Amino acid sequence: MAALSGAKHSSDPIVDDEYRIVLFEDREELWDIHARRHGMPLSFRGLDRRTGAGNLSRKQPLGRAIGSKATVVIDATAGLGHDASLLACMGWQVIGIERDPFLAAALDLSLRDAARCDELQDMLSGQLEFHCGDATSMLPTMEADVVYLDPMFTGRRSRSALPKKPAQVLQALVDPGDDQTLLAAARDRATRVVVKRPSDGPAIAEPDLVFPGRQVRYDVYLGARQ
Ligand SMILES: C[S@@+](CC[C@H](N)C(=O)[O-])C[C@H]1O[C@@H](n2cnc3c(N)ncnc32)[C@H](O)[C@@H]1O
Repeated sequence: MAALSGAKHSSDPIVDDEYRIVLFEDREELWDIHARRHGMPLSFRGLDRRTGAGNLSRKQPLGRAIGSKATVVIDATAGLGHDASLLACMGWQVIGIERDPFLAAALDLSLRDAARCDELQDMLSGQLEFHCGDATSMLPTMEADVVYLDPMFTGRRSRSALPKKPAQVLQALVDPGDDQTLLAAARDRATRVVVKRPSDGPAIAEPDLVFPGRQVRYDVYLGARQ
C-alpha cells in the first residue's frame, strides 16, 4: 500500500501568534496559545464517512458539482483539509494546496494521523496529498479536471459550514485573499471550478451552474480545458 504523502513545506513552524501544535505520543492537537488543556485534534477521523445515501454519496450537491467524469481534483484552498479529505473519501484523487505554512504543517500531521487509522488509511492512501504554496502561482504548472475553492468568507453568515472550533481557527489564522485572481487561475487549468459559498452569501462571479445545499451551495464555473 502506498504511503500517504505529506505536506511539503520549507520549514516546520509549529507555533503561530495565536495557536500552537502540541505533539503527543499518539496524536497531535492544535491548542489556543493561552489554553492549558483541550486542544483540537489534527485528524480526519471526525469525518462523516457514511456511504450509500450518506455524506460520501456523489448524489449530494458537492458530488454533483464536481461531476462523475472528474478524476483529479485540486483543492486550492485546503485550510484544515476537511473538504479535501471528504473529496478523497468520495473517491477523487485530491491534491490540496495551502499557502499558510502553519496550516500546511497541521495538514501534514492530520495525514500522519490518518496513517494510524486502518479505515482512513484504506480510503486516503494514494488519494490525497498536500502542498504548501500560493495556488495562484502554482496552478499554471498543474492540470486537473476540477479545481475546488473554498475562499475565506468575510461577510456575515447565519451559520458556518465548518464545525465551530475549526471555523474559529481559520478565522483567526487566515487573511482574506484575492478570490477573483484565484478563480481566473483555476478556470485556466480545469474543465470546471467549484466554489463553495454559504447558502446566503454572494457569489464571487456569475456562476454557470449552482448546486444548492442546506448550509452551503456550490457555484460552478466552466473552465478553459473542455
Ligand atoms: C475557508 S479556508 C478553507 C477551509 C477548507 N475548505 C477546509 O475544509 O478546512 C480557506 C483557506 O484557503 C487558503 N488560501 C486562500 N488563498 C489561497 C491561495 N491563493 N493559495 C493557497 N491557499 C489559499 C487560506 O490560507 C485558508 O486556509
